[in-house]
Amino acid sequence: MAPGTNGRVVQVEDTKICVVMVGLPARGKSYIAQKAQRYLQWLSIDAKTFNVGNYRRHDAPQPPAEFFDTSNADGERRRRVAAEAAINDMLGWFRQGGVIGILDATNSTKERRKWVYDLCTKEGIEVLFVESKCDNEELIMANIRDVKTTSPDYKGQDPEKAALDFRNRIKNYEKVYKSIDADGDENEYTYLKIMNVGAQVIINRIQDYLQSRVVYYLMNLHIRPRSVWLSRHGESLYNLYGRIGGDADLSPRGHQYAKKLPELVRQSVGDDRPLTVWTSTLKRTIQTARFLPENYNQLQWKALDELDAGVCDGMTYQEIKDVYPEDFVARDEDKYNYRYRGGESYRDVVIRLEPIIMELERSEDILIVTHQAILRCIYAYFMKKDQSRSPWMNVPLHCLIKLTPRAYGTDEERYQADIPAVSTWRGKGSTAKHEDPIPESNLGYTPTAAVH
Ligand code: ATP
Ligand code: F6P
Repeated sequence: MAPGTNGRVVQVEDTKICVVMVGLPARGKSYIAQKAQRYLQWLSIDAKTFNVGNYRRHDAPQPPAEFFDTSNADGERRRRVAAEAAINDMLGWFRQGGVIGILDATNSTKERRKWVYDLCTKEGIEVLFVESKCDNEELIMANIRDVKTTSPDYKGQDPEKAALDFRNRIKNYEKVYKSIDADGDENEYTYLKIMNVGAQVIINRIQDYLQSRVVYYLMNLHIRPRSVWLSRHGESLYNLYGRIGGDADLSPRGHQYAKKLPELVRQSVGDDRPLTVWTSTLKRTIQTARFLPENYNQLQWKALDELDAGVCDGMTYQEIKDVYPEDFVARDEDKYNYRYRGGESYRDVVIRLEPIIMELERSEDILIVTHQAILRCIYAYFMKKDQSRSPWMNVPLHCLIKLTPRAYGTDEERYQADIPAVSTWRGKGSTAKHEDPIPESNLGYTPTAAVH
C-alpha cells in the first residue's frame, strides 16, 4: 500500500492473502481473526472473516461432541460441506476484489490445510497460516467458561454440561490434530505459530510487506486485562475563539479540567495502580496532564498531535469557507479523505497512528490525552466505527472515556467532569463557532455506555 492522490491509499500490487487459522478449539482463533479484521479494516484494507462454525450451524445448530469425532462419517461429511461453503463464499469475495480473507476454522489436519492451500493458490491467492497453540489448561478452561458455554452451540443449556461437552469436543479434535509443520513436511508454507499467547512465536517464509504487517500485528496481541482511557485536552483558547489547530494554552476552564482530571481518573480506575500517560507534543495536552500523579509515567508522542490543517491552521471554519470555498465543500463531501492543502486528511492520521495502535496492543493500562481528530481515529479502531462516520463523531471536551477490550468487543464508560466547555463539534455545511451536536451525529456515543 502507498499514499496515492488526494491522500487515498491505493493498492500498489495485487496482493491477495488468505489467512488460514489453525488450532484446537478454544485457542483464541476467532479472537485473533476478528482483531486482525478490525485492524485491517481500520487501515482501509478490505478484509473479511469467514467463520466455518457459522456455516456449520445452519445445518447442525447444536451438535454434541460426537459430531466432531472423525470416525463419525455423517459428522465428517457435514463439516466438510460447511467448510466448502465458507471457502466458496470466500473465493467469490476475493474475485470481487477482497484483499485479505480470514478463514476461521480449526484446519487442524494436514489434509485440510493442503486442500485450502491448493484452492487458494490456484486462484493466485497467497496463503498465510496462523496457528494458535496453547497448553495452559487454566486458560483453556477460562476460555471455555467465558466464551464457549455462552456460544449459540449451547444456547439454553446448562453451562456445566456445556463445558464438559466442549472438553469432549476438544478431545475429538486432539485425535487428529497436527500442529503445522510438526513433521517438517509443511515447511513450504508461509506460517505464523503463536504459542501460549505469544510467549513464543515461529515465523516461516513470510513473503511480502502486507503479510509481514499482519504477522507483526498478531505477534503483539496479548489478553491480559486492561483498559485504555481517552481524553481530549482541556478547553483551549483556540477552542473558545473557534480556531482550529495551533498550539494554544488552555482556557481558565481548561485549567480547571486539568486539575480535576486526576480525580476523574482515580474514580474510573477504581484503585491506586499507576497508569502510563501519553500526550501529544502540543501545549494543551501537556498542560492537561500536568497534575496527574508523579508515579504516572508520561510520554509525549508527535504522532498524537492534532490533524494538521496545513494552510488553514489557526483559522475559523468561517474563514476557511471565505478563503478556500471549494476546499470547504470538498471536505464536507468526503471528510475522511479530504487532505488540507499542505496538511493532512483523516486517512493520513490513521496511517500515522498505526505505531500508536501497535504500542497500545502491546501495552496494558494507558491514558491518552490528545485531540479531537486523533481521538476519533483511536476510538474508531476500538469501537469499529466506519470511516465515513467517524470524522463526524462528537467527542465532548472535559469528558474521560474508558475503553475495556473484551473477548469479542470493547466496553465503554464515560466520566463527565462537570466543568463547562464550548462545543467544537461542527455539522456538515456549518461554520458556527460553537454548535450543539445533533443526537444522530453523536456517532461515538453508544447508548449502552455507562455515564458517570
Ligand atoms: P473454536 O475453535 O471453538 O471456534 P477458538 O479457537 O476460535 O475456538 P475463541 O472463540 O477465539 O476460540 O476463544 C476466545 C477466547 O480465547 C477469549 O477468551 C480470548 O481471551 C482467548 N484467547 C485469545 N487469544 C488467545 C491465544 N493466543 N491463546 C489462547 N487463548 C486466547
Ligand atoms: O476544533 C478543535 C480541533 O481539535 C482542531 O484543532 C482540529 O482541526 C479539529 O478539531 C478537527 O476536527 P474536524 O475534523 O471536525 O474539523
